[in-house]
Order: sequence, then structure tokens, then C-alpha cells
Amino acid sequence: MIVTAVGGFAFLLTSGLGALLPAFELRGILLLATFITAFYAALVTAYRLFLAFFPLPVGEIAIGSKEERIFMTYILFWLIFFHPIVTPLWVPVPFTRLLYKALGAQVGPKSYFGGPVLDAHFVTVGTGTLVGARALIVPHAQEGLKLGHYPVYLGDRVTIGAGAIILPGVTVGNDSIVGALSVVAKGTRIGEGEIWTGNPARFLRKRTPEEMGHRIAERAPSKAPKENDRFGASEPGLYS
Ligand SMILES: CC(C)(COP(=O)(O)OP(=O)(O)OC[C@H]1O[C@@H](n2cnc3c(N)ncnc32)[C@H](O)[C@@H]1OP(=O)(O)O)[C@@H](O)C(=O)NCCC(=O)NCCS
Repeated sequence: MIVTAVGGFAFLLTSGLGALLPAFELRGILLLATFITAFYAALVTAYRLFLAFFPLPVGEIAIGSKEERIFMTYILFWLIFFHPIVTPLWVPVPFTRLLYKALGAQVGPKSYFGGPVLDAHFVTVGTGTLVGARALIVPHAQEGLKLGHYPVYLGDRVTIGAGAIILPGVTVGNDSIVGALSVVAKGTRIGEGEIWTGNPARFLRKRTPEEMGHRIAERAPSKAPKENDRFGASEPGLYS
């Protein structure tokens, strides 16, 4: 039903534009681009409305529960429409901040994503943070029959190395670096200005003030919420 409404809206808009536009060489391409843009804009709106009315809880989802039925609808949306765009990295990196904000993530200015973010509405990212090429952010713990969502928080000026994997419930403090291809295990808390590497990622060393830049204290504070502000630190089932 949602898809029919969304498709119908995009079709009507495109037909309306088609009726107004005179014939010219790139008319077909323009109309196709209009249809795809309108379709996805309406789809993202429907998706956000769905999650606003039927929010997925933080923590484990019980089999047969109402939350599991909400999850099933959510995952269908995701797998059919968003996964095919996000996972092969169709969206150019400069637009990824907008993409993940549209999908519900909170992302500060000058932060960009070279790899996919799953369950974006469980992800908070500060200012000036880079998720490296093909790194993966995964806020859901799907392990056999167990399924749960745990927020991921990346602070300001964080670098997630190329190909790294950030698992559910991970917190990465300001100015920290996760090494290329490292796997940060569920619930890991990386402090400020630290470098972690390996699988599972372990503390390698503290960054020096020189490495982080001398003027950090003078930089504008992040506009992103502090860790867990969005979800409540006392939420049951959160990894600690
Ligand atoms: C983690 C990192 C910051 C460490 O840099 P560094 O402090 O200069 O560290 P070094 O290269 O001197 O290595 C120190 C040790 O860590 C190990 N190491 C470094 N990077 C590692 C990684 N990604 N995974 C596992 N071990 C790593 C080194 O082998 C070395 O081990 P040793 O002391 O036993 O010999 C860097 O290697 C890295 O991975 N940067 C990510 C860059 C990136 O991907 N950016 C995004 C681009 S899109």
C-alpha cells in the first residue's frame, strides 16, 4: 500500500512535469531523474513517519512480540529500497551526510561516510568525523535467533579506518582513531584521543596533542547530542 502511494505520487508529479515540458533532447532523462527523486523523497518520508509512529526499541526484541512485527516491516523497507543504495555505495561521499540524516541518523557538520551505515536512526555522529572507505557501522545485533538494536555513537573528529567494522553499542570518543580493517566489538567504549586496532580492536596508544592539533580547545563544540542523550543512558538492555 505504501509503495503504491509513493509510486503513484512520483508518477503523478512526473506526468505533471512531462505535460509542462516542451520536447527537447534530455527530456526523458530529466523525467526519469524526477521520478526517482520524487519516489525516494516520498519513500524516506513514509519510512520516517513509520518509525515515528512505531519506533524500534533499544535492546533485544522478543520473538512473537509487537516489536518483532514492527521490525519485519522496517526490515522490508530497508532491504528492498535502502540497502541496494547504501551498501554498494551509490551515493557520492559529499552527499552521504544528507542521506544518513534523511534516514534518521544525527550527524554533525563536516562528517562524511565512505562506507555503509545500517539502522541509521540508531547512529549519532559528531562534527568533522570520517567513516573511511568501506567501513561498516552496524547497530543491530543479529545472532542466531537473537535480535536487538544498540545505539552507536561516534564523537567529533573521529576517524574510522578503511574497512573497519563498528558493532552495536560502540562509543568512540572525540579525536579517536579506529585502525583500518579493525573490528570494534559490541559495547566497546573507546575514550577520547585514543587509537584502537585489530580484531577484536584493542587500545594501541593515546594520540599526542600535536597529532590532534593544538587548537582543539578553541574549536566549536559539537552540535551532535552527547553519548546516549538521544536514547537515555539508563535504557534497559544497553551494552555497558
Ligand atoms: C591505526 C593507525 C592510525 C596507526 O598509525 P600509527 O600510530 O602511525 O601506527 P604504526 O603504523 O606505527 O603501527 C603501530 C603498531 O600498530 C599496528 N597497526 C597499525 N595499524 C593497524 C591496523 N589497522 N590494524 C592492526 N594493527 C595495526 C602496526 O603493525 C604496529 O604494530 P607493532 O608495534 O607490533 O609493529 C593507522 O595504521 C591506521 O590504520 N589508520 C587508518 C587510516 C584510514 O584508514 N583512514 C581512512 C581512509 S578512507
